[in-house]
This record gives sequence, structure tokens and C-alpha cells, in this order.
Amino acid sequence: MLKVRKVREDELLKVAGLWKEFMKYNTDFNASFAVNKKASEIFSREMLEKLKESDSRLSVAESEGELIGFCYSYISQKPKYFKLHKFGFIGDLYVTPEYRRNGIGKALVEDAIDFFKKNKIKQIELLVARRNENTIKFWESLGFSHLLTWMYKRS
Ligand SMILES: CC(C)(COP(=O)(O)OP(=O)(O)OC[C@H]1O[C@@H](n2cnc3c(N)ncnc32)[C@H](O)[C@@H]1OP(=O)(O)O)[C@@H](O)C(=O)NCCC(=O)NCCS
Repeated sequence: MLKVRKVREDELLKVAGLWKEFMKYNTDFNASFAVNKKASEIFSREMLEKLKESDSRLSVAESEGELIGFCYSYISQKPKYFKLHKFGFIGDLYVTPEYRRNGIGKALVEDAIDFFKKNKIKQIELLVARRNENTIKFWESLGFSHLLTWMYKRS
């Protein structure tokens, strides 16, 4: 049975493993996502700090005692001159390949939406690689629209 819940501290290394798979997946779209050897260690250390704060949520999807996905979301702020001040940001979302298309990604996003609702957040944003077409379809299926195109130039 699927359960989506807040991560436990002792699970951070396992989540770091999933996060590394997520970053490797992203690297296929663009080399900008390549991480260094200490990435998992840095990720779990930073998440340990975030767990103490109330403006972020790291949730996991668990099935038969196994962690098969995670979602990291947080509350962020626009520059003060915008009417929209606080907004929610979904930073990382990943479901292990063999468990995809079973509603787990959607359940993780619903958990994030619930977290934002409880914090009276009215707008949720995220970034997705332009070439990640299937994931763009996923976000569109959940009612997300395109806002910006993030461009880059490498020298
Ligand atoms: C994106 C991701 C989290 C979706 O997780 P998932 O558990 O497979 O998604 P769900 O089963 O909840 O999908 C919900 C709906 O989204 C759409 N969708 C999901 N995957 C899709 C795909 N590959 N192609 C087309 N539509 C898709 C469908 O409408 C789906 O509903 P349906 O299966 O009833 O047709 C997962 O594919 C993943 O981890 N991808 C790699 C990492 C990634 O891209 N993360 C997001 C970065 S922004």
C-alpha cells in the first residue's frame, strides 16, 4: 500500500540516493545538472537542517517498507515590489522508474499542495527541463501552466 508522509531523519541517506538518481536523470537533458562526488553527503546534510524549519517539506512515498519517491518543497519570497510576495516552490520530485504511472507523483504533489495550503500559499512554481517532455505533460495534467523560459549561454 502506498503511503506519502514526511521523511524521517534516519531516512535522509536513502532519499539522497533517490535524489542522486534524479540528478543523473536530469543530466541526460543538460550537463548543467551534473553533480560532484560529495553531492549526496551535502544534500543529506542540508536536508537535515531544512527538517528543523517549518517553511519546507521533504516528503517520501513508501510502499511495502521501501522508499520509492520523494518531493522537496519550500516557501520562498519574491522581491518586495511584487504584489505576490510569498510563493511555494517544488524543488525536487522523483519516482523510481518501475513505480511510475501509478499516481505516486500526483500523490507526492498533492501532499506538497496540502503543505502550501496550510501555509496560505496561493501560487506554486517549479522548474522543469524543456526537453523533459513527459514530465511537462505530468505537470500540465495537474493543472500547471508555463510561466517563463529559463535560458542559458555557456562560454
Ligand atoms: C514526473 C514523475 C514524478 C511523475 O511520477 P508518476 O508517479 O509517474 O506520475 P503519475 O502516475 O502520478 O502521473 C499522473 C498523470 O501525469 C501524466 N503523466 C505522467 N507521466 C507521464 C508520461 N510519461 N507521459 C505522459 N503523461 C504523463 C498522466 O496524465 C498521468 O495520469 P495517468 O497515468 O492516469 O494517465 C516521474 O515520471 C519522474 O520521477 N520522472 C523523472 C524525474 C522528473 O522529471 N521529476 C520532475 C522534475 S520537475
